[in-house]
Amino acid sequence: MSILITGGAGYIGSHTCIELLDSGYDVIVVDNFLNSKRESLNRVQQITDKKLTLYELDLLNREDLENVFVENTFDAVIHFAGLKSVGESIQIPLRYYHNNITGTLILCELMQKYNVRNIVFSSSATVYGMTNMSPLTEDLPLSANNPYGSTKLMIEQILKDVFMADNSWSIALLRYFNPIGAHISGRIGEDPNGIPNNLMPYITQVAIGKRDKLSIFGSDYDTHDGTGVRDYIHVVDLAKGHLKALESVMNTTGVEAYNLGTGVGYSVLDVVDNFEKATGKKIPYILIDRRPGDVDACYADPTKAKKELGWVAEMSLEDMCRDSWRWQLNNPNGYEEK
Ligand code: NAD
Ligand code: WQD
Repeated sequence: MSILITGGAGYIGSHTCIELLDSGYDVIVVDNFLNSKRESLNRVQQITDKKLTLYELDLLNREDLENVFVENTFDAVIHFAGLKSVGESIQIPLRYYHNNITGTLILCELMQKYNVRNIVFSSSATVYGMTNMSPLTEDLPLSANNPYGSTKLMIEQILKDVFMADNSWSIALLRYFNPIGAHISGRIGEDPNGIPNNLMPYITQVAIGKRDKLSIFGSDYDTHDGTGVRDYIHVVDLAKGHLKALESVMNTTGVEAYNLGTGVGYSVLDVVDNFEKATGKKIPYILIDRRPGDVDACYADPTKAKKELGWVAEMSLEDMCRDSWRWQLNNPNGYEEK
């Protein structure tokens, strides 16, 4: 089985490449390294002792992407490629819409042309909008609060329409909750540029001494300790979910959304506490104002993925903290050797 992975050099993509290679799939990655490094894929190949095929290209370049379809035959596509920063999407919305939506349109047009009808798409819990209705089920109304979220919502709609027009397509919309952690080898992980926006990379940078202290955004939420609650999921569990979704799209037709989360919410203070216990590192913090756009609590009801895909997240928050820290400790500058 041969799988096209867009954005395969990125955080979730690289972990999924490992699971795919380990399971015997042929992996063809397209990535323009807009938000990743080639080194992640070198390491994927070292860890698995298997080769993958890499095309360095921009999805927006139709000719380059078409060449990949001409040179290969695919059983399915996993579509990770996209820009993902909420804050940046508010500053440069056109770039986000163009990259994420046009990139997906070009990809789907080529899939249609070359008779590839199976796709697993990286959606996000952000499509549930600013609701405090957790646990979230897939049938809840959807909305977007920022351009990034709008791109995910629009792409979900585009893929639903593609299926409506041609029932031979098979589409899984995977709504990720909060992926953290890293591969157990400590050789691949999340490598954010500049000051991290997300909680776990910020915590690991405090632990390694790159940042003084964590600022906790809001301590007056309606949660057990006042700090925001999220559904953190180990990136390797998430990667395994893609294999289950892949098996499903290759065996059925339809369009289905699945929550990929643990179903358990932890607060920011829970994460700090677990990190300290798992690593022995102290995380100094201050409590500051809420971050605009944040909700009290956001966690999945993962029942559908369990029932229909046979997938459940297995790793604990302590596993996630330990593995995030191992990656940070072994790679203080991420993939940059300094
Ligand atoms: P990432 O930025 O690490 O990976 C995305 C990859 O896509 C990068 O390697 C980037 O270089 C590539 N890319 C972007 N635009 C491209 C283009 N036009 N052509 C070719 N390559 C391009 O992000 P990630 O955390 O691995 O996320 C993967 C997907 O999952 C994204 O679509 C993201 O929106 C979605 N998602 C991520 C999270 C999260 O918290 N990490 C949560 C929900 C959904
Ligand atoms: C988690 C919790 C913060 C940083 C984002 C996107 C979402 C999805 C996943 C892509 C919140 C708090 C954070 C810090 C803090 N991405 N926090 N101090 O906001 O749940 O989700 O990533 O689809 O769309 O919005 O994740 O890691 O930023 O925040 O107190 O320095 O940690 O307020 O409660 P979030 P996060």
